Amino acid sequence: MKNRILAWTLASLALVAQMAPGAETSSQRDDRMGWWREARFGMFVHWGLYSGLAGTWEGKPVGTRGGMEWIQNHVKADTETYAKAAIPLFKPKPGFAREWARLAKQAGCRYLVFTTKHHEGFALHDSGAGDYDAGSVLHRDLVKEIVEAARAEGVRIGFYHSVIDWHHDQYAYALSKQLPHPLKGRPYPNAERDHNRYLEYLRQQVNELTSNYGRVDVLWWDYSAQDFQGDEAWHAFDLMKLVRAKQPAIIMNNRLFRSREAGWASMGTEGYLPQLDPKYGDFITPEQHIPATGMPGVDWETCMTMNTTWGYSAHDHAWKSDREMIRNLIDIASKGGNYLLNIGPKGDGSVPEESIKSLQSIGAWMRANGESIYGTTASPFEKLSWGRCTQKKLAGGKTRLYLHVFDWPADGRLVLPGLENKLRRASLLDGGQKVKVKNENQRIALTLPARNPDPNATVIALDISGSPKVAAPDP
Ligand code: GLC
Repeated sequence: MKNRILAWTLASLALVAQMAPGAETSSQRDDRMGWWREARFGMFVHWGLYSGLAGTWEGKPVGTRGGMEWIQNHVKADTETYAKAAIPLFKPKPGFAREWARLAKQAGCRYLVFTTKHHEGFALHDSGAGDYDAGSVLHRDLVKEIVEAARAEGVRIGFYHSVIDWHHDQYAYALSKQLPHPLKGRPYPNAERDHNRYLEYLRQQVNELTSNYGRVDVLWWDYSAQDFQGDEAWHAFDLMKLVRAKQPAIIMNNRLFRSREAGWASMGTEGYLPQLDPKYGDFITPEQHIPATGMPGVDWETCMTMNTTWGYSAHDHAWKSDREMIRNLIDIASKGGNYLLNIGPKGDGSVPEESIKSLQSIGAWMRANGESIYGTTASPFEKLSWGRCTQKKLAGGKTRLYLHVFDWPADGRLVLPGLENKLRRASLLDGGQKVKVKNENQRIALTLPARNPDPNATVIALDISGSPKVAAPDP
């Protein structure tokens, strides 16, 4: 016994010795990531000076598709010209933040990540670091308003923060060929730039954001390039250290970096890799894209627009259907990821009608079926021809499988291939109607009601003994 205790103590000491100072054990990490992994669904908000421009420059639409939060870059405006056109159109109405927070809550989003500063460089808080911020320009602290509103609804808070900056006069855009800047290819208007001075400014604003608003749950950095990233570009490790010192439980994404170890394969928005060394962040960020399969051991979050732009555009009418977004959420949960779904409020902070309607439908579905999303883990099946599956452990060693039916079988027979566990019972999650289940040599067959009760996705809860054991499909 004594020997065993000694061996255990030595092993633990060795483990602690291996850990970098300040690093955490995997169980500490699991604790910190716990709420985020259970949440599965968050709201993204892109809102800044570009929102008032609404995709229009000098009276003309800049385009009908794509990110209009990039409008300054699209029209190649220097920061003075841009600010002069955009500031008068950015007029946040009182109480806008409460509308966002209520909408997030109603939709079933457990966290809200919003742009504290996008690439344009305009900070939504009241900053002492400069005068291109809501405090100086509007005499308001919009970050405070948003944080307080979200907290009042019990929705967790994430800060998106762009490290790219199209305003700051020391941001040395010539250091990267790959990162966008409206003046790219042109000499600096102010002769030399000292990028370190920009980095001090960045640090000061991040310090304000993580010091002055209470608990911040997520820091959502954006973004880096293969030719300009990490320590060289942003003093990334120092920045992360500062944030962790102020917010020990915070969860950060991987976008201060753009390397393979940090989960990046390329510069494309789909260019993620299913790997992440935790020193580069806590989760990877596939953009506008749902990975084909799950990624065991990697935390990930797909961020996605409802039309094709992040920031508001009056010209983008390519809205996704409610069903598509509900099914995206299910698809992502079935692969073990989170869905961060974007709204782009207008210059006055109001949310486009299309987004409100869709979020309300998603919310209605979540009120009936949220149990099959929150706190679930990835599907035990490699593929299901008719839909998706999520799972959750129940008391007594049982597991509940949530079968999300996308294609309702015409003959009412739903087949689950290869599930070897003993079955307990099955019922519709919404309403509780019993569903007949039969074991048919190596296959499970369910008999569904003739009519599909929910064309968005009907969920069947199937309880089984133990953890799911699924036989490999026939070759
Ligand atoms: C990008 C874009 C940006 C958007 C973001 C969301 O990297 O530059 O406009 O905010 O991704 O993921």
